[in-house]
Amino acid sequence: MAASLPDPFRLLVREQAGSTNDELRLLAETGASEGLILLAENQTAGRGRRGAAWFSPTGESLAFSILLRPQEPKAWWPRLALATGLAVAEALESFGLEAGIKWPNDIWMRQRKAAGILVESGKDFVIIGIGLNVNTLVFPPEVADIATSLHLEGGRPFLRPDVLGAIIQRLAARRFQIGSEFSVLLDAVRLRCVLTGQRVSLLSSSGLKIGWVEGISPTGELTLRTRSGIEHLMQADEIRLMPP
Ligand code: BTN
Repeated sequence: MAASLPDPFRLLVREQAGSTNDELRLLAETGASEGLILLAENQTAGRGRRGAAWFSPTGESLAFSILLRPQEPKAWWPRLALATGLAVAEALESFGLEAGIKWPNDIWMRQRKAAGILVESGKDFVIIGIGLNVNTLVFPPEVADIATSLHLEGGRPFLRPDVLGAIIQRLAARRFQIGSEFSVLLDAVRLRCVLTGQRVSLLSSSGLKIGWVEGISPTGELTLRTRSGIEHLMQADEIRLMPP
């Protein structure tokens, strides 16, 4: 696969890998420099958030991880998840597709998931894993109702190297907005946030919550109006839209 990538990004392709996040972590721990991207044509142990398995059929999807060594304070690193979600959405838009961000960083197309992002950090690095359904037309029964692909949404196949290149181009710009320009980044995320104004149920560290999403706070948290008042959530799992 030959993708056109801005400096310092460069691509290492493996025919097969367990999880690209795990394998890139090993390379990071042995000194690989910022910008290395590890892509697996066939990922045998792809992981999602909450330890779920990630399905990425060979040749139809993109499964890759990006190594960053951010200079910003570590407290800001989690913001890279928002920057990445935005970069993926903007890349898809550059192909004429409509993409929404399901906070914090799932990419939704017509209420179905097209991409998932798994950001993990080490002592002095961050690994950003991205799984994107590009040309998949048939999904396994477990996810058939909730997954989609660029081909299904756009009505045509997409060249995976072009999609990869577009994502990295956008990330190369957005990643530097996690500091003093975070409000600019957030405004772009807010424009695409599919949860704002919706009634949702979600699992937070303090249990199941039901409420209306008011938006995203200036620090990137989800603002939820529940019966007991306004809550700001740093993280949440299993966010489901509910009937009003
Ligand atoms: C999620 O939505 O739960 C996140 C899915 C992330 C999947 C990608 S595929 C490439 C990278 N390697 C992994 O093992 N996971 C991420």
